[in-house]
Amino acid sequence: MATGQTRVFSGVQPTGNLHLGNYLGAIRNWVDLQYRYECLYCVVDLHAITIFQEPKALRDSTREVAAGLIAAGIDPRRSILFNQSQVPAHAELAWVINCITRLGWLNRMTQFKDKAGKNREAVSSGLYVYPNLMAADILVYKATHVPVGEDQKQHLELTRDVAQKFNNDYGVNFFPEVEPLILGEATRVMSLRDGAKKMSKSDPSDYSRITMTDDADTIALKIRKAKTDPEPIPETAASLSGRPEAANLIGIYGALSGQSRDQVCAAFAGKGFAEFKNALADLCVEKLAPIAEEMRRLRQDPAYVDSVLREGAAKARALAEPILREVHDIVGFLRP
Ligand code: TYM
Repeated sequence: MATGQTRVFSGVQPTGNLHLGNYLGAIRNWVDLQYRYECLYCVVDLHAITIFQEPKALRDSTREVAAGLIAAGIDPRRSILFNQSQVPAHAELAWVINCITRLGWLNRMTQFKDKAGKNREAVSSGLYVYPNLMAADILVYKATHVPVGEDQKQHLELTRDVAQKFNNDYGVNFFPEVEPLILGEATRVMSLRDGAKKMSKSDPSDYSRITMTDDADTIALKIRKAKTDPEPIPETAASLSGRPEAANLIGIYGALSGQSRDQVCAAFAGKGFAEFKNALADLCVEKLAPIAEEMRRLRQDPAYVDSVLREGAAKARALAEPILREVHDIVGFLRP
């Protein structure tokens, strides 16, 4: 690896409420990592505008997501927490990366295909080069490890390709090989209404997701209404194959309780989903209610959240700017 040191980077879009998928797939792991490594966590407002956002909604959501991260346990004294647009080096390196990435690579991105759908000609060009900005986010810090949910894996493979092509084209050993960290029992949390669709901010049904601001009654109701099947819980997780909704709920329980899917199955083997859902609702409330409570408190103190982002951005700029300057030298930009 080009750099000897571990540096963690990850990001989240401010395009709506954080949900259980964000929490279990990513944020919870971010919290753990900050005790062991140097970590940067970014609210990616530049990425958000690849799809039009109302300016006020974007500002509100940026604060809300930052508050959610702090409430979930990201400690601004340990981690560098900031919003992307305050660090111009991301967008500047993204331009260089636009000139490295091949069109063929972008054409293979499944998330672009999903988001653009049949409307390919009408989406923004920003949406198309979205993975290049993501690569820039990571590489502008020479970050080595990126904790994400499974849905970001392909984008991180592209980041690796970008780094390698840059190093090859310019004959340098500059950018590190980025490792995805896809951790835990819920790396792909599915919709509560449809086990074939991932839980997402953009699903029109509120019942498809648990958000980090839901109160106890709402959480219990959503879990009670979650789709399942009539079969009881099996003894081992392997027997959950072909039962995506059941597997999803077992995975959520495992992730929240720190158990493997097998351990959860063993504990509830033979029981029906009505009983299991009660236990799952209690566990969700126990883990999420304190976070929601803290988010409500932080909502009353936007000046504090803004100060965290401002100070985080200053630290991030100090790390990114020298790396960007080196990129300029490598590429051949004149700096008289
Ligand atoms: P975003 O905002 O969609 O999601 C933030 C994080 O949550 C994870 N996640 C999930 N994990 C499990 N199950 C789910 N249903 C689920 N939904 C979301 C995502 O994998 C992600 O880790 N492109 C990124 C943001 C980004 C980024 C980066 C990430 C921008 N630059 C650089 C890492 C490094 C995104 O849209 O995440």
